This record gives sequence, C-alpha cells and structure tokens, in this order.
Amino acid sequence: MSGPVVAVVMGSDSDWPVMQHAIEYLERFGVEYRARIVSAHRTPDLLAEFAKAARAENISCIIAGAGGAAHLPGMLAANTTIPVLGVPVPTEHLGGKDSLLSIVQMPKGIPVATFAIGKAGAINAALFAISMLTINDPVLAQQLDEFRQSQRDAVLAMTLPPQN
Ligand code: RP5
Repeated sequence: MSGPVVAVVMGSDSDWPVMQHAIEYLERFGVEYRARIVSAHRTPDLLAEFAKAARAENISCIIAGAGGAAHLPGMLAANTTIPVLGVPVPTEHLGGKDSLLSIVQMPKGIPVATFAIGKAGAINAALFAISMLTINDPVLAQQLDEFRQSQRDAVLAMTLPPQN
C-alpha cells in the first residue's frame, strides 16, 4: 500500500479559489493528496460513500471546505472517524461567518477541527494535516521546521518606512 493521502474536498467548484491554497501547500511539502467536489446537500449519498470508504483508501485526514450552510465537514465527520479539518469559505452576504458557525458548532461526540475563514484557514488546514503526518515522517518534520524557520527569517527581515 502507498503512503497516507490527504483528501481535500469542497462543496462546489466555487470553493476552489479558497481551497486551492490548501493544495498549494500540500504540493509544496510533497504530500500526496486527492481533491474532489462532494456536496453535503446536493450529493448526500456520494458524501456518505466517500467518507465511509476513506479509511480503507488510506486517507489520513480530510480537509473539507464549504460555504454558507456549511454542513460538509460535519457530515463527513458523522460518517468517518478519520480527522476532519473544516475550512469556512467566505460568502457573499454574511462574509463567511455563516460558514464558520456552521462548521465550528458541532454537537459533542462528532468533532471537526475548524480553521479560520478563507485563505488563511485553507493554508493552516494543510499545515495542520502536514503536522499530523510528521508524527510518522521525520523527513516531513524537518521540512516543517525549515518552513517555520523561513517564516521567522522573513519577519526578522521586515522593515518599516522611516518615521519622524
Ligand atoms: C456550499 O454552497 C458550497 O460549499 C459553496 O460554498 C456554497 C455555494 O455553492 P454554489 O452555489 O456556488 O455551487 O455547498
């Protein structure tokens, strides 16, 4: 069997501009992933089938992005015990607060790890998935350390315009 795979799912192709950032980071770290569209409301049977098969397919965790009545991460978590990382996608009318609250307010017993709204959330979900994978992958752990170091260096090199 090949190594663990991170699944990246989203409720619609309209989520792609946000969710592509998660994929960008998985690729940057050389983490194998599978991306697809699964909708909690429009393809509920596919959702259940996908989540129930995930463990047998060597999926280590599922990053799930959705907007509005964002039930995708919660319903995936209801159908699998693999970790689900929820990314609230920004929305036109409520700015993504609707997505955030739909994802974060899970009933006890069915957890979803919830990230920030939008791009930062998508990136951090990918980094969190990578961090989980480092438990069994020292090379990936080293890569993650180097990434943190490069962020530190970037902040330390920042300058401000001259002030009076
Ligand atoms: C959710 O509804 C999707 O995750 C998306 O964020 C939102 C709107 O979907 P579209 O109407 O753009 O397909 O299921």
